[in-house]
Amino acid sequence: MTVPLYQQIYERVKRQIADGTLAPGQRMPSLRALASELGIARGTAEAAYDRLVGEGWLVARGPAGTFVAYGTHVALRDAAASCRGVTPTLPAHPRLLRLGLPALDAFPRKLWARLVARQARAAGSFDPPEPAGHPPLRTAIAAYLERSRDVACTARQVFVVPAYAAALGLVTEVALRPGDAAWIESPGFPLTAQVLARVGARVVPVPVDEDGLVVAEGVRRARRARLAVVTPSHQSPLGVALGLARRAALLAWARTADAHIVEDDYDGEYRYGGHPLPALQSLDTEGRVIYLGTFSKVLFPGLRLAYAVVPEAKVEAFEAASARSLHAGCPELYQAVVADFLQQGHFARHVKKMRTLYACRREQLTRALAVLEPEGLTVEQRQGGMHLVIRSTRAEPDAELARRAQAAGFAVQALSVWAPDGQGPQGLLAGFTNVATEAEARHLAQRLRKAIVSK
Ligand SMILES: Cc1ncc(COP(=O)(O)O)c(C=O)c1O
Repeated sequence: MTVPLYQQIYERVKRQIADGTLAPGQRMPSLRALASELGIARGTAEAAYDRLVGEGWLVARGPAGTFVAYGTHVALRDAAASCRGVTPTLPAHPRLLRLGLPALDAFPRKLWARLVARQARAAGSFDPPEPAGHPPLRTAIAAYLERSRDVACTARQVFVVPAYAAALGLVTEVALRPGDAAWIESPGFPLTAQVLARVGARVVPVPVDEDGLVVAEGVRRARRARLAVVTPSHQSPLGVALGLARRAALLAWARTADAHIVEDDYDGEYRYGGHPLPALQSLDTEGRVIYLGTFSKVLFPGLRLAYAVVPEAKVEAFEAASARSLHAGCPELYQAVVADFLQQGHFARHVKKMRTLYACRREQLTRALAVLEPEGLTVEQRQGGMHLVIRSTRAEPDAELARRAQAAGFAVQALSVWAPDGQGPQGLLAGFTNVATEAEARHLAQRLRKAIVSK
């Protein structure tokens, strides 16, 4: 029996996605081009594309064309390998619903490439980096933060570092001695506890409720702590905002205890109902808050650029610490490119565009994940961020659910892993930013359901 032509095309495209010939985000030939290349009717090519789009392998973007969906290749490659009884030799890096990854298909690559090319020719890009950061970038960050996050600071207060861990590491050099207690949120971003433990801090998990960090509990557990690391705009991972009364209580505690607060504003730009909340730093009149931001979420994580905004009174201490830091200095070229991106208004435009896009993608995936409700998994409604929290009432531990999902190519994480004692709420964390279409969302939700219910 001969296989219909449209099916042959369908199979070939899937094979090419699996073996990497077709990369995620790559534009497919137009229907007309494909039909003429293969000498087939346009309707045949259309039938193949329709099925591939319907199953989530391709994404149709109207006049812009049809593209290979993100995250499909790994699942396909692994599925193909296991069908043939072959274990993949490389560890699988599942990407489906991966957390914290911006929408790679919506990144303005041409513009970025143009800015990189221009700066690559500039003499300054070849200079050794300044430990505290490229001065024009420090100035551009200060201006951006004042406009968009109500963070009042001068360029001198901004220190550019290679990613969040380096920013927190720099803070600990100035504000913490081995053995000092430091509050962290529970559940909270696991890297925070790791960085603090590595410098010898006594890490004190403080619970989070609907209003964010339970400050009174922190005071009860470690009144004399020297540091509190919090995510006030959008708690990581639960997504709640730190309430106003809690903000005031936290600042009051820091004043009394002569402690510092690290405000990790990793994705504060992304809030979908109303305006993003002003930063906690904007309420600080006593130089207690050290504000941390990263370009990983708005631009891309491979950039490895983040920053700390430190109180005026601490600038010299941070200058000294960054000069002797083993991690000081980021590539001048990319700092200069990001400075251009900010100064020329591209950053603000990109954030605005992504806010609309993410609101839509978030809604799309939330709707699709309703198929998990009969299985005891419910998406929680939150205002901001780049991921969904799916609460579980299932009998199995969430780590087991995450393991099953990961084996099927998903990069979802177990919520309980984010609590230092593993005793936090049960659920899954799933990124929505790279799920481009309704069809892809539905397809992924069904696959996730199947992966979770099968043992
Ligand atoms: C809470 C939180 N803080 C900080 C970061 C880190 O960003 P970077 O990529 O700069 O290390 C992340 C990234 O996932 C995060 O979730």
